[in-house]
Amino acid sequence: MHYMMPTEVFEEDHAVANHPEVFARAGHTALIVTGAHSARANGSLSDVTGVLTSLGIRWEVFDRVEENPSTDTVCEAADLVRTFGADFVVGIGGGSPMDAAKAIALLLAHPGKGKDFLDEKGADSMRVPLILIPTTCGTGSEVTPVSVLTRKDSGIKGSIPHRIFADTALLDGRYLSFASARILRNTAVDALGHLWESWLNTDATPYSRMCAEAGLSAWRENRDLLFRDPKELTIDECARLLRASAFAGMAIAQTGTSLPHGLSYHVTVAGRIPHGQAIGYFEAGYLAQAPENERKKLLAAAGFSSLSDWQDFYQRACGGEKLPKALLTEAVDELLASPGKLKKAPFFADRDVLLSIAFYGGED
Ligand SMILES: [Fe+2]
Repeated sequence: MHYMMPTEVFEEDHAVANHPEVFARAGHTALIVTGAHSARANGSLSDVTGVLTSLGIRWEVFDRVEENPSTDTVCEAADLVRTFGADFVVGIGGGSPMDAAKAIALLLAHPGKGKDFLDEKGADSMRVPLILIPTTCGTGSEVTPVSVLTRKDSGIKGSIPHRIFADTALLDGRYLSFASARILRNTAVDALGHLWESWLNTDATPYSRMCAEAGLSAWRENRDLLFRDPKELTIDECARLLRASAFAGMAIAQTGTSLPHGLSYHVTVAGRIPHGQAIGYFEAGYLAQAPENERKKLLAAAGFSSLSDWQDFYQRACGGEKLPKALLTEAVDELLASPGKLKKAPFFADRDVLLSIAFYGGED
């Protein structure tokens, strides 16, 4: 058995301002990687730039990370930054900016390498120092080694083979209160998917399940917060949602995700369905394949009495429309080409099983 989660975590109000040493020891010139708007709106960007400026650290912002970031964007950022001379990276946001920040930190440690290197199996995964600051409650990317990128030429979304943990994750619930209810719900459903898929996984161990159980407990206790106005949540309530997401990240850092994530990627890229909504769509079908005792345990751990109870929750949280048959069939066929993901399911998963997961609950 193996357990690895080397990222230092601070979870506290004003975590960024309270820990200037995290930035001071990282380097002299920072690249801040984020999306276009949210880090400015929720105060996380100004918190980071304030600390960097007070320390005399030069900084530059790359804020062109799109949803489902592409390998092209990552390479563009790395090229820009090489001229600026950044020697460490700070990623702020949801999964997209944090995953992009990981890949940029990798490229900065490998001058002269480009897009092909990102997908090179067995290559050196050394990176420059990396600090991650989550502002949504689902990805857990701040404590996982995973960077999920989209290849523009093929349209395929998936993890790069490099394992890239951050040095430090700074969790501050204040940033989450600026997210929309839609973002909170979608990302929390993603976190639940991580917990269920990590538990129901051929690579699960007592160590990974320790993280998954803690995450399921935290998720169950806080799930009703998702139906309140985020602006009315207390900082402590927001921090608890972030914590459930981080526990889920620690679980998938050990096991990886499984079939629902594998099915979701095509649905997100080709069908433009947000990641969390796409993940939740396939969870009922995945749990339906599990032995009854495990299914009941996992549903109860998240506070659900049955699969239909979970599906009702999902409809409230993410909406309930059925996805087009062609899109789902394409997702199945794309997943069949990824044997690594298929091996994560602790049951035999052929095309018929994948179709039954994708079409669980019937077609329209
Ligand atoms: Fe996910």
